[in-house]
Amino acid sequence: MEGGGNGGDAFLEDESTKIFAKKVADHYSARTNQTLEEREASPIIHLKKLNNWIKSVLIQLYAKRGDAVLDLACGKGGDLIKWDKAKIGYYVGIDIADGSIEDCRTRYNGDADHHQRRKKFTFPARLLSGDCFEVTNSVDLISRARRALANVSSLLRPGGIFIGTMPDANVIVKKLRAAEGLAFGNSVYWIHFDDEFSEKKFKSSSPFGIKYKFHLEDAVDCPEWIVPFHVFKSLAEERGQPTEQNRANSRRDKGKMHLEKEDITFIGS
Ligand SMILES: C[S@@+](CC[C@H](N)C(=O)[O-])C[C@H]1O[C@@H](n2cnc3c(N)ncnc32)[C@H](O)[C@@H]1O
Repeated sequence: MEGGGNGGDAFLEDESTKIFAKKVADHYSARTNQTLEEREASPIIHLKKLNNWIKSVLIQLYAKRGDAVLDLACGKGGDLIKWDKAKIGYYVGIDIADGSIEDCRTRYNGDADHHQRRKKFTFPARLLSGDCFEVTNSVDLISRARRALANVSSLLRPGGIFIGTMPDANVIVKKLRAAEGLAFGNSVYWIHFDDEFSEKKFKSSSPFGIKYKFHLEDAVDCPEWIVPFHVFKSLAEERGQPTEQNRANSRRDKGKMHLEKEDITFIGS
């Protein structure tokens, strides 16, 4: 999938966003379920395993027995087993790619596992295809981000927890500045910034709209935007949702393990 045709301001217009959303959906729908052998042969298998480990830790830390889970952009249901191990009570998965939702349904029903190696999932599930982040009447990225967080906030019950993962903006900018040109990467990924960022300077007063192209072998090829963690944190706090860093001390006080941002280091190339 190539997202570059939607670059610049035009990308922010609703019509372009819809076209891009369709491209994302088509890209992921076209990727069929891999066999175990194909998966192990993937050039990014170690990265996949690392991502899965991080998500497993987060789910084990924050999900409680009987919880209702809304999995935004659930894909093919790669996290179903993790939620099962956390003994959740109910699961709703939504993804923009119809094909992925079909694969997720197959996986949930156990039809993908011809050897019936695992027992059925213990929780009831609803699987829906749709755009989790569609926002009408707001053209700028900050309004979109606010709206997305408002949607999440309105769906959380009091005391509910929002779990998410995102790339570390500081690492991306550090690597960009260390690179000779506007691109860096290795044999499995590359990140490319447009010429408008040739000075490699980003105003802290306007942290939105810093777009780059991300390519990950065997997985992704599309534009993404830098999200500085402090900006995300203040937007989340506008919704009255304390971030985990706020909760961290109380968790530490109780002697429980807690994964903080500082505990996560980047994987060098
Ligand atoms: C990298 S995959 C992750 C899938 C899954 N969460 C997992 O960890 O296995 C990203 C997923 O986001 C979905 N996606 C992208 N944009 C979306 C949107 N606007 N609404 C819903 N899903 C979206 C894609 O279809 C894809 O399945």
